Amino acid sequence: MKLVLWSLIAILLFTGCSQNKKVNNLDGKKLLEQKCSSCHNLDLPPKTFENEKAPPMMAVAFHIKSFIKTEDESQRIPKAIAFVKDYVINPSASKSFCDKKSLESYGVMPSQKGKVTQDELQAIAEYMFSHFTQKNLNEAQLIQNRLNAMPKGERLALQNNCLSCHKVNKKIVGPALRDVASKKGNTLEVLMNSIKNGSKKKYATSKGAIMPAFKKLSDADAKTIA
Ligand code: HEC
Ligand code: HEC
Repeated sequence: MKLVLWSLIAILLFTGCSQNKKVNNLDGKKLLEQKCSSCHNLDLPPKTFENEKAPPMMAVAFHIKSFIKTEDESQRIPKAIAFVKDYVINPSASKSFCDKKSLESYGVMPSQKGKVTQDELQAIAEYMFSHFTQKNLNEAQLIQNRLNAMPKGERLALQNNCLSCHKVNKKIVGPALRDVASKKGNTLEVLMNSIKNGSKKKYATSKGAIMPAFKKLSDADAKTIA
């Protein structure tokens, strides 16, 4: 019985999370990019810049969620959403949760009245508070840590999508990297050249599949991967 109950809760939680919440079919993520990213950095974790125009959106979301006053915890997110909807149209230094010093350096946000509707703001704010969460931040940082811990060549291969066609020990679309490395005549220069300019018909096992040219890779990165 307990088990059934728990699976039910799990299903409810899961479906609740996986649903891409949309107000009137408005896409909060897209709208946030269109209407807010010219000033607010949207990365998670955020990138911060010397002369940024506004606090990163993750900071804004974390901020509001923790500072908003409520006696009823279940009202925290609805209140936070209401705050965003009001603030974007009627911003003021006294309402802002930004600390004094940041406010002075950024200046109060210019009202976005006429540039975004209340429905759009509802979608934007719902997305903000479902995306910029501690859980998503932890996951993003875990991935970043994993990337940082890899040898640089492996990280570059992953980031440039090489591993969708290559595995170390097994041929997929491209030859196994082990076979590439042990092929006669494959010097560092030869491999760098193939990576930057592509390759075809060199491996019988490719069966006509070609290696696309990665012209945009810098020589240094191609060399690191090679
Ligand atoms: C023209 C630049 C600009 C645009 C566009 C902009 N903002 Fe801002 N925003 C700022 C600045 C600067 C601040 C920091 C000063 C302040 O709190 O008013 C800020 C602060 C905020 C705050 C209050 C933060 C707090 O901690 O109290 C919210 C909420 C906010 N922005 C939401 C949005 C949303 C949502 C959008 C897109 C619909 C948006 N902003 C578009 C410049 C901008
Ligand atoms: C669309 C699939 C695909 C992608 C993506 C791809 N490769 Fe390849 N790769 C191949 C195929 C197919 C071959 C074999 C071509 C041939 O037979 O000459 C190959 C061959 C190679 C070779 C051997 C070249 C030689 O001269 O022996 C290297 C090295 C290589 N790939 C590295 C990479 C790297 C690094 C990346 C990412 C920057 C990458 N590949 C991305 C399909 C791919």
